[in-house]
Amino acid sequence: MDYRFSSRVSQLKSSVVRDILKLTQGKDMISFAGGLPAEELFPVQAVKEAADRVFAEGSSALQYGLTEGHLPLREQLCERMAAKQMIVNPEQMILTTGSQQAIDLLVSVLTEPGDVVLVEKPTYLASLQVFALQGLKVVAAESDEHGIIPEDALRLIREHRPKLLYAVPTFGNPTGRVWSVERRRKLLELCKQHQMPIIEDDPYGDIKFETSERFPTLFSLDGRAEKGTVLYTSTFSKTVAPALRTGWAIGDSGVIRMVAKAKQAADLHSSTIDQQILSQLLSGFNLDDHIRLISKAYGERMMEMHELLKRQGLRDVSWVMPKGGMFLWLELPDGLDADALLRGSVRKGVAFVPGSAFFAEQPQRNTARLNYTYNTGARTKLGVERLAEAIGEFTARS
Ligand SMILES: Cc1ncc(COP(=O)(O)O)c(C=O)c1O
Repeated sequence: MDYRFSSRVSQLKSSVVRDILKLTQGKDMISFAGGLPAEELFPVQAVKEAADRVFAEGSSALQYGLTEGHLPLREQLCERMAAKQMIVNPEQMILTTGSQQAIDLLVSVLTEPGDVVLVEKPTYLASLQVFALQGLKVVAAESDEHGIIPEDALRLIREHRPKLLYAVPTFGNPTGRVWSVERRRKLLELCKQHQMPIIEDDPYGDIKFETSERFPTLFSLDGRAEKGTVLYTSTFSKTVAPALRTGWAIGDSGVIRMVAKAKQAADLHSSTIDQQILSQLLSGFNLDDHIRLISKAYGERMMEMHELLKRQGLRDVSWVMPKGGMFLWLELPDGLDADALLRGSVRKGVAFVPGSAFFAEQPQRNTARLNYTYNTGARTKLGVERLAEAIGEFTARS
């Protein structure tokens, strides 16, 4: 049989990160590519005890569940959201298979194929895959260290009439940047004026290195769920473990109901066991202490990578130290193509994600994303040395 694939999937590019992860399976390969949390910091014992408590209560965790998700977990999450000035009730929340599914479903209920989506330049790679699969056109607004530049967003809004804005305002992937409060307010106002919902994707907001710093979410600045401008999504992937595949979306109850309908078509509901384990975990384990512990460790790993890179004395290579999240964004010498550099780096035994993957159009090729949370100590040192060597050889040749 000759299969004829839909035009939507034929045009789909496989995730560069996943492709690189395949390349990096070898033991000696040091990967700064994946957005992987530190395995040794997973709360294994607490998850095991939570799972034991789930099964001690009976067998309901093995049954089908509600499309909207396990109610006790939604109630617990509503309390956690309220602590961040995001006031919602369980009808204004749905649990999803990772926040990736929340993005996918929100986009599918709010857009038609052919619509335009506004994003930040650069932006999260797998959101670009969602937009491509759903037949959307992407326009990307310029951004700087304070976030999206409102004047450029306005220009694109006038020119393309986008249906929605997708953004990661706090410790963005790939840049690690945080939008200033002023920019947050301006973008919120702009989207309100133009009747454009915002999908605020916030997987990293809790992973901050200076715990006293506050970065209000767009959702909290908007101050309302019903008929609000912002649909917010987050996840347990970075704070507990990605394998539990549990994320959530909050917002207007009418939108959440539509998302639930779309989710029935996609997978009926997300894993009941995972949700019940997380619910038990939240009642028997101090997740906030755990988040403080991993944030401290990640802050140290970021500093470690920063110092090691600095020590290499690489000419025309710069980065801004992130205040949280999992990534360091490198700007390489003008004219250096990080896609080509990757091939040389992999031969030396180190991998990263070339920045071009995060641009919907006109990629800035001399950029690279490095993850600092997965490796530590000798491996980070060796990885940075290999990378510096590859950059040195590359620039000497060109
Ligand atoms: C910006 C952003 N959004 C969403 C996700 C999806 O996370 P998950 O589906 O594991 O919740 C990620 C994962 O790396 C991410 O970086």
